[in-house]
Amino acid sequence: MARILVTGGTGYIGSHTTVELMQQGYDVVIVDNLSNSNADVLDGIEAIVGTRPPFEQVDCNDAPAMAGVFTRYPDIVGVIHFAASKAVGESVEQPLLYYRNNLMSLVTLLEQMKAHNVHNIVFSSSCTVYGQPTPEHLPVDETAPIQVALSPYGNTKQINEEIIRDEAHADKSLQATILRYFNPIGAHPSAMIGELPNGVPQNLLPFVTQTAIGLRKELKVFGNDYNTPDGSCIRDYIYVVDLAKAHVKAVERMISGQSEEQVEVFNLGTGRGLSVLEILHTFMQVTGVDVPYEIVGRREGDIEQVWADPSYANKMLNWKAEVSLEDTVRSIWKWQLHLAEQVCSLRKELGLREESMDDLMMLSEESLNSSIKTFNEFKESNTFNVNKLPKIESTALVSEEQDNTSKEVQEFANGKNLSNKEYEESSIDDWFKKMT
Ligand code: UD1
Repeated sequence: MARILVTGGTGYIGSHTTVELMQQGYDVVIVDNLSNSNADVLDGIEAIVGTRPPFEQVDCNDAPAMAGVFTRYPDIVGVIHFAASKAVGESVEQPLLYYRNNLMSLVTLLEQMKAHNVHNIVFSSSCTVYGQPTPEHLPVDETAPIQVALSPYGNTKQINEEIIRDEAHADKSLQATILRYFNPIGAHPSAMIGELPNGVPQNLLPFVTQTAIGLRKELKVFGNDYNTPDGSCIRDYIYVVDLAKAHVKAVERMISGQSEEQVEVFNLGTGRGLSVLEILHTFMQVTGVDVPYEIVGRREGDIEQVWADPSYANKMLNWKAEVSLEDTVRSIWKWQLHLAEQVCSLRKELGLREESMDDLMMLSEESLNSSIKTFNEFKESNTFNVNKLPKIESTALVSEEQDNTSKEVQEFANGKNLSNKEYEESSIDDWFKKMT
């Protein structure tokens, strides 16, 4: 079967796409520099698919190393290019980093593709290229005008689209598909892979789930005075597995020669706009978990409302976003519980009792509801607070007489406890690293 090179394949969308490609019988090779992801993601992919994808820890900017990958895998027939820096705020602070990273990596990749006779590329773009569409362009389709980018990150998406067009114009053998994502959310239904934001989450759903589980004190809803029905911003939230499936369709279309234009552009969204408050209330309703929140001022650079007209992708790719918002939210919560499970395994390693956590840790679909119930009971009785987990003596899960943990282990655990401030500023991933 044909091999697809997936750059950024250990990242959020890249890992879900790798799973879908492999499940459809494609061979894959992942290239990732692990700057914003973790090699453990390969374990998750292997657990789902049953095979471990080959992995090359390479930076896409490194031309000789990229040449090595194409040489070692002469069966590559197409590339899906996810690898990029994606934090909007960081891009404003460090524009040169973003221009170097996101632009040069595409240039290097296209050069290496040409040198190794690989002619098909799928590029990860974003609805950010449309800015705030005027009312007559809502829902937004692919013909809506591109607007001046609001951040260097957004600008790199626009410039990369232009680089692809210019190169396709010069090299008629290049076939490209540009996929403009709306707001990807959710995790694989197995909870083996999902989104692991670096540091304090900037995106809505990771912040919601981290607040729900007690990692963050409260969600800040950025603005309720927009010109929308409930005053909060509207976006088109698309389930990441649906999004991943669209990539498989895009690859199939290109390599089977069905593309009608040399550069094709598709909006990937559901066609449904939802407000921040609607998302929040759906999350609370579906999971039964309360999420404390506060309405605060608008976030600079936020767009009031944007959602997709995905009909072109529906027709041409024979693809449609199918999973309901409720199931998507369930997948996110299940993933967050899986992360909590990892925290609890650490407790176990530290010699703490954890029988009472067993129900929570049963993560099969059937037990999810009871897990949530158990989790809520823990929260209500104030016994489950991830912040407090490392403090052995402060958790009611271990009563004095039950706690036969050795003094050494206690000291070890307490010594690794993080202050609240450190905690707020750290990502779950950093926190695991510090704990282990
Ligand atoms: C942002 C970027 C987009 C990028 C995407 C990456 C902008 C304008 N857009 O999309 O280019 O591709 O991230 O995933 O920066 N919200 C809160 N509280 C929070 C977090 C978010 O109320 O703590 C609100 C935001 O104001 C927004 C909505 O939730 O209305 C979605 O925000 P977010 O998840 O950050 O995505 P976008 O801003 O749409």
